[in-house]
Amino acid sequence: MTGFASRDERAAFIAGLPKAELHLHIEGSLEPEMMFALAQRGNVKLAFDSVEAIRAAYEFANLQDFLDIYYQGMAVLLTEQDFFDLTAAYLTRAAADAVRHVEIFFDPQGHTARGVPMANVIGGIARALAEAEERGVTSRLILCFLRHLSEDDAQATLDAALPFLPLIHGVGLDSSEVGHPPEKFARVFARARDLGLKIVAHAGEEGPPDYVWQALDVLKVDRIDHGNRALEDAALVSRIVTDGLTLTVCPLSNLKLCVVDDLTRHPLRRMLQAGLKATVNSDDPAYFGGYVNANFLAVADALDLTREEIVTLARNSFTGSFLPLAQQAAHLAAIEAYAAGH
Ligand code: HPA
Ligand code: ZN
Repeated sequence: MTGFASRDERAAFIAGLPKAELHLHIEGSLEPEMMFALAQRGNVKLAFDSVEAIRAAYEFANLQDFLDIYYQGMAVLLTEQDFFDLTAAYLTRAAADAVRHVEIFFDPQGHTARGVPMANVIGGIARALAEAEERGVTSRLILCFLRHLSEDDAQATLDAALPFLPLIHGVGLDSSEVGHPPEKFARVFARARDLGLKIVAHAGEEGPPDYVWQALDVLKVDRIDHGNRALEDAALVSRIVTDGLTLTVCPLSNLKLCVVDDLTRHPLRRMLQAGLKATVNSDDPAYFGGYVNANFLAVADALDLTREEIVTLARNSFTGSFLPLAQQAAHLAAIEAYAAGH
């Protein structure tokens, strides 16, 4: 145990360490209890008859297994209040984990396809984010396109989001990766860039290194979500290091979706040693078994991460964020002060 007297001491250090979360799908924070409550409130029929039955269904052999259940779960989200309640619950959990800044993904096509107006989705999420900001948690909102749908569908989604553009900071790409390469979305991402939006994309979670190259060269990403399989290509690793791009890594997600077979073999330390700016995130915490501190702790235990590695991960979460540099600097100073006092 490097730098800590015990496991409990490492857990306590992680618990209070100021951090940002950069990879969080708000629909993936829908806990079974809230799923049940919202189903009753909205008169939505669920395929499960108890919270226990829902939790028991969370066994996934791959990304698609998870996505099938994830899209089913989000069917309970209907009203502006539903989206507010979902987001407010996540923000309460995040604040309890010493999260000071969040960059939240949402999947509008998972809702508009069911007839839910874009205004309900963005309105509810943004109202909860504004309330959290009053309590000191800052945020950015990132609209994700579902890559298993067509580029035309993504373009129509961007059209529908235009009235809400002041509330949206960036666009991302998620859902079923293999068979849906970044280049399929070249035109809609070019349009988003022209609108001044930041660009991120899930790449190299299940997809090959070539998809990460495409995220860089075709989409021109500002950050890479997951990126695990980039390690298979040394030239790609140097490119990401040279460009100074951050990877938003999700350890418990990787375990639950069988991207890694055991956390002791998780690539996080190898990423740091290669000079990659890796961060730790929860992805879909209600489905994968834990919020951001649980992710830090699980991977720190499995890899026996040092105090310095843990502090580096927290620093990366702010330097990899879309906050202005002055705000990043204030958070970095808070990390140094915390580390000096603990
Ligand atoms: N990968 C791809 N799509 C997703 C994920 C993920 O981890 N979570 C929610 N949508
Ligand atoms: Zn994700």
